[in-house]
Amino acid sequence: MKKLYVKTYGCQMNVYDSDRMAQLLRPHGYEMTDAPDDANIAIINTCHIREKATEKTFSEVGRFKKYRAKKRKAGEEGLLVVAGCVAQAEGAEIMRRAPYVDVVVGPQAYHRLPEMIAQAKRSIETFTGNPQVIDTDFPVESKFDHMPLPDSRSSLSSFLSIQEGCDKFCAFCVVPYTRGAEYSRSAAEILKEAEHLVNQGVKEITLLGQNVSAYKVQSPQGGTWGIGALCTEIANIEGLERIRYTTSHPRDMMDPDLIEAHRSCPKLMPFLHLPVQSGSDRILEAMNRKHTAKRYEEVIEVFREARPDMGFSSDFIVGFPGETEEDFEATLELIRKINYAQAYSFKYSPRPGTPAATLDLQVPTNIQDIRLERIQDLLFQQQRDFNNSFVGKTIPVLVEKLGNQKNQCLGKSPHQQSVQIESSHDIVGKIININITDAGLKVLMGRPESGLYVSDKTKI
Ligand code: SAH
Ligand code: SF4
Ligand code: F3S
Repeated sequence: MKKLYVKTYGCQMNVYDSDRMAQLLRPHGYEMTDAPDDANIAIINTCHIREKATEKTFSEVGRFKKYRAKKRKAGEEGLLVVAGCVAQAEGAEIMRRAPYVDVVVGPQAYHRLPEMIAQAKRSIETFTGNPQVIDTDFPVESKFDHMPLPDSRSSLSSFLSIQEGCDKFCAFCVVPYTRGAEYSRSAAEILKEAEHLVNQGVKEITLLGQNVSAYKVQSPQGGTWGIGALCTEIANIEGLERIRYTTSHPRDMMDPDLIEAHRSCPKLMPFLHLPVQSGSDRILEAMNRKHTAKRYEEVIEVFREARPDMGFSSDFIVGFPGETEEDFEATLELIRKINYAQAYSFKYSPRPGTPAATLDLQVPTNIQDIRLERIQDLLFQQQRDFNNSFVGKTIPVLVEKLGNQKNQCLGKSPHQQSVQIESSHDIVGKIININITDAGLKVLMGRPESGLYVSDKTKI
């Protein structure tokens, strides 16, 4: 077998895509390696969301140049592939700045990767220049129609892409340009993939989409199914224990089926990542979010009422063009009202081709830095408080792997917290009730309720 190395940046959708690309290449004789200098094909799956992410692509590409050259010198196959959102947005620029990149493939065209690699190899055999095979089309046919079912035999938790692309065009965001228009996979296709994953031992499925809450397909009965109906259907799969979905948009959340699913379906985890970006209506309007802070609060209330123990998470952008101190205070105020379980916050990064990049009143970096620190102080405090509220409680934890220390296992709580478990028994692969004894910013600590832990010898 030849070797394939894949380096993934960006969101969970890129993680899903990287797995699929690796799987597409397996029948062509490539197996995964962790050593980049060993690779016959190296794929860098890139992210374009902020300037820093894009810069990383160019430095990574430079780093891989030497691995590729070494292989070629040794007379072996050595190909460098750039995939993902930077490939889509700046494919030609990549080929210009790094002519040694052999293949550039966008996120909606990677089902054509085996063919593109064959083409690159053919041109290497027949002439001495660089092949420079590029495909950044948004093909009419869906890549999902060309994909084998995923192989997840070694994992308990798996991603499943159900929706791609975005039609919302927030003024700061590149995703509608890099991933294209909204597209929902058919329910039958998704259910087949979910059943297949569960048959392989997967216990938790996270449904993915750039706009997962915009999921919409025709139901088998002729009506429409949204994300709520889909979750309810997936919950019928025997052996599946947990369902999550991400990322949602406040505008599509008032789906009665989804609210009802959170109320009545125990497999649907009590955690919602619902980005708001800002708490100021003026800024929300400039961002083209098409919702107000009040509307966002109403959505949160509805879900809190349906599932009182729901934990909430969000994304925030600080220093969007024109953001005043007053606007920023409104964001802090919203955070205090909602009380988050955790959240991500970013400094606004102007992206080429997006409307916000050319707005006047760009906020200076030093002010962005101060605001980022202030927002993170508040969010981290809320996260600590949220985690501390579990100390003394017993919660079901999906135990995913052994920890680095002796007698330690690592798992995930229903609220997506990482849990370190002290246990002398190998409890990996099970959902176990854990008594939480301590908590930090990013982790809960505890022991199995049943007494399968090491310190108290009487309980072993
Ligand atoms: N589809 C999701 C997430 C998209 S990208 C949504 O609707 O929210 C993930 C996060 O990156 C966004 O929520 C936003 O907070 C952040 N982000 C996107 N573009 C950005 C930019 N230009 N500068 C800083 N952060 C950005
Ligand atoms: Fe980007 Fe907005 Fe679409 Fe999310 S909803 S992917 S932030 S344009
Ligand atoms: Fe990045 Fe593309 Fe995801 S820009 S965040 S990898 S959709």
